[in-house]
Amino acid sequence: MSINYLTVENPFKYGNPVEGDYYFPLPSLAFTIKQFLENRIHIVLMGPRRFGKTSFSLNLLEEFEKNGYSGLYIDIFNITSHRDFLQQLVRAIRSKRSFATALKSWFEKLKRITPKISVDFDHWTGNSSFGFSLTYLSDEDTQAAIQDLLESLSNLGSKVIVVLDEFQKISEIDDKGWLEATLRTHIQTLKNVSFLFTGSRKSLIYDMLNNPSRPLYRSCQIIEFPTFGIKFTDWIIKRFSTVGIECEKIAIEHLRELVQNTSNYVQMVCFQLVSQAYSSVGIKEVEEVLEMVARQNAYAYQTILNSLTLAQQRVLRLAANEKQSIFQKDLLIKYEIKTAPALHSTIKALKTKGILDEEGSAKGSVLFDDPLFAFWLRLCFKE
Ligand SMILES: Nc1ncnc2c1ncn2[C@@H]1O[C@H](COP(=O)(O)OP(=O)(O)OP(=O)(O)O)[C@@H](O)[C@H]1O
Ligand SMILES: [Mg+2]
Repeated sequence: MSINYLTVENPFKYGNPVEGDYYFPLPSLAFTIKQFLENRIHIVLMGPRRFGKTSFSLNLLEEFEKNGYSGLYIDIFNITSHRDFLQQLVRAIRSKRSFATALKSWFEKLKRITPKISVDFDHWTGNSSFGFSLTYLSDEDTQAAIQDLLESLSNLGSKVIVVLDEFQKISEIDDKGWLEATLRTHIQTLKNVSFLFTGSRKSLIYDMLNNPSRPLYRSCQIIEFPTFGIKFTDWIIKRFSTVGIECEKIAIEHLRELVQNTSNYVQMVCFQLVSQAYSSVGIKEVEEVLEMVARQNAYAYQTILNSLTLAQQRVLRLAANEKQSIFQKDLLIKYEIKTAPALHSTIKALKTKGILDEEGSAKGSVLFDDPLFAFWLRLCFKE
């Protein structure tokens, strides 16, 4: 009955990090990373977008906290400046009640350095004018504040784990490597703090860690975030069964392939299958719903397309439709691409824009950063 249906909680979630029953555990990855962090070997966890790096890191932090560690999660995905970085650092520390004293002593110190802003900072104890107050800091004060706060991380507990999510952002700030170098100094000197960095831009991260002229050279162990595998499929089927929906294994395997194993999209499609009250799930149902979900994103995808040149749009169409050997002459003709070198340079431009994946996969093929975008393009140009 419909009333019954309304009260059923959807066993799937997407968009935000997941925990509890919504989280498919990754025990062997957790085990490996714990070993390193416990021995103060810093980690860079690298994986494609929307695979579950943030969820994993938050769940790992929780486990560490259960074992007596103090955990801190800092998200720097949207930072554009040192001030943004400082703000995220402050926000992270503030969110922890147990860290209030550490922050307070830092704040008292800051007040002494820059008396001009003390009034605003006093308000902070009341509430949120603190973030705004940071705008009064000069560049120099901001840098000093970042150094101070990083140093204070070791006061957060006897053993501390810090997660810096999307950490490659620090290298994109135009500061001649200051933030990268500052971070290096602190991860070396804070003896009771282990860092877990996560990131999605492979080539950028490899350069940060493997280029001898860069501050973070060989400072961390790189670990690749794994795809979830067949056990994830079983987990999904079990989640469906909690709401009485029967689901074929082959349908979820097919879905995982269509979305290049992106767990966010797997959960998104499953969420819709439940909310649209399908009673059983096979390949046909999965495709139907994936198509609907892709079409719902049409506006965003159309906006991206409109920002590209016509030649770039044609290359995207080729990349979305052809699995391999994209440099073949007949394909160039089919997609109206002038020459192979032209294709090559357009692909490069699309990678720089973050639309195509920097890695690519096998030779002669390219991957999309957003597999749903590729799926949508295929829908648009179906023959
Ligand atoms: N371990 C997991 N178990 C089940 N679903 C997961 C898991 N990890 C991720 N997901 C799915 O992916 C979505 C996004 O997860 P999360 O934000 O952790 O990924 P991310 O890699 O950090 O993404 P982004 O690249 O956007 O930062 C979740 O809402 C959930 O649907
Ligand atoms: Mg994330």
